Amino acid sequence: MSMSLTEPRIIVFTCNWSAYSGLESAGAEGLSYPASVHPVRVMCLARLHPGLILRAFELGAAGVLLLGCPPGECHYGSGNSRAAEMFEELQALARLLGVRDEQLQLDWVTTGQGATFANKVREFADRLMLVPAT
Ligand code: FES
Repeated sequence: MSMSLTEPRIIVFTCNWSAYSGLESAGAEGLSYPASVHPVRVMCLARLHPGLILRAFELGAAGVLLLGCPPGECHYGSGNSRAAEMFEELQALARLLGVRDEQLQLDWVTTGQGATFANKVREFADRLMLVPAT
């Protein structure tokens, strides 16, 4: 990938189903979130792997938020549970590299919950602002 990030950005990975539906609902309802937030859609959070997320930090992301379907609601059955397992491994690696817990989080959004999506993204961005960058 040749792209380089020139300013701090917040990457929000959403699965294509519940979480993305939350993003679409937020847009339809006119709910805003910070311009520094850049959503990236994947089919299921299970498609993500630690290397990709660590690469986002390497390229300058200020934070990475993973939003998927709540437990029991993954479109592919157990993708969100596998994502939660992957997240534990990812978090351990990220900590070793100096990434603070505030910068990397995994959470769920129920289908069509635009307000939930916007709130979670806003809260994540706000927490990053409260902690000084290293
Ligand atoms: Fe949403 Fe798997 S499809 S987490």
